Amino acid sequence: MPTQQIVAPPARAAMFLVFTVNEGSEDEVRDFLSDVPGLTRTVSFRATGPNPSKDILTVVGLGAEMWDRLFAADRPRYLHTFDPIYGDKHTAPSTPGDLLIHLRAPQMDLCFELARIMTDKLAGHVTVVDEVHGFTYFDNRDLLGFVDGTENPEGNDADEAVHDNADTELYNGGSYVIVQKYTHDMQSWNAISTEEQERVIGRTKLDDVELDDDVKPTNSHVALNDVSDEDGNDLDIFRTNMPFGSIGSEEFGTYFIGYAADPSITEQMLDNMFLGNPVGNYDRILDFSTAITGTLFYVPSVGLLEEIDSLATGSPAGQQNDAQANESAAAPSDEPAVTADGSLGIGSLK
Ligand code: HEM
Repeated sequence: MPTQQIVAPPARAAMFLVFTVNEGSEDEVRDFLSDVPGLTRTVSFRATGPNPSKDILTVVGLGAEMWDRLFAADRPRYLHTFDPIYGDKHTAPSTPGDLLIHLRAPQMDLCFELARIMTDKLAGHVTVVDEVHGFTYFDNRDLLGFVDGTENPEGNDADEAVHDNADTELYNGGSYVIVQKYTHDMQSWNAISTEEQERVIGRTKLDDVELDDDVKPTNSHVALNDVSDEDGNDLDIFRTNMPFGSIGSEEFGTYFIGYAADPSITEQMLDNMFLGNPVGNYDRILDFSTAITGTLFYVPSVGLLEEIDSLATGSPAGQQNDAQANESAAAPSDEPAVTADGSLGIGSLK
């Protein structure tokens, strides 16, 4: 299912669109959300014929304030507005965003076409507050020249890292995503030696090998982002960062996008980067990279997305916990219950 699929190999092209939703456009946006899987199929089918490509991926996320405007149902448990982080030297700002559309495809034309159709549908109801077109740079390198994405979890580990095993069945299988747009100061970066750059990242530049612990600085990017719980278990997120840029305006950037079952893991990494661990020992990548945006979104499962307008009513669908869901399965009621495939099993409400 190409809609709301998070874990995938690196795509050649990506688009990141962040919107705010105009007052009074809530109904139209709700309608749009349930159309997203169909719109994705449209472009996929046109591009590849009867075997629609599984490589055209759409993920839609919803901001916390938007959730409250669109739905009567409770917010998913970890959905909140992104908190800015003020380190001694560097800041992670929090910027507006009601809706995130993250598109990935083997070619930019497919992302662009899907983005065009989607924004057409939303015309008059939203404002695009950020738009980034990301490209693959050689062997999945960022514009600092380092391979980015190597230590992502794989297979089941990746699925577990991104999907929330929520106690509220409606939100089971959903995810949380934090996006940040960074620009790089290439002049300062290019002024330091390759060996120094490797100490900033914590890996070698040409062949992408992690530095040994005795030479890897504690303020390297890799050291500060390798986080674990109190029992020593690794805490993972899934990143699909993309380079972007503009030669004329000398903009060289990395669009950071990190999906997690629990966004506090990504927030812990950000605290390590911006405040430092211990405090003051901040991530040296920030001496060469400035965060310009920062927003947190909830990613509903595809089943919930297709039938999301059911959350708009005063119906307690979204507040239904497992016990209530079991009860409603035993004694039929008007309230929708979720089936094993994540669908609400209520068909279209239109
Ligand atoms: C690792 C680049 C921002 C989390 C890496 C690596 C590179 C990189 C080159 C090493 C290869 C890899 O494993 O992917 C960047 C750039 C960023 C950025 C250019 C923006 C300027 C972030 C942010 C977070 C993050 C904001 C988290 C909030 C991680 C994690 C790893 C990693 C978890 C793997 C650490 C490990 O080895 O266990 N990043 N990154 N990165 N990055 Fe970033």
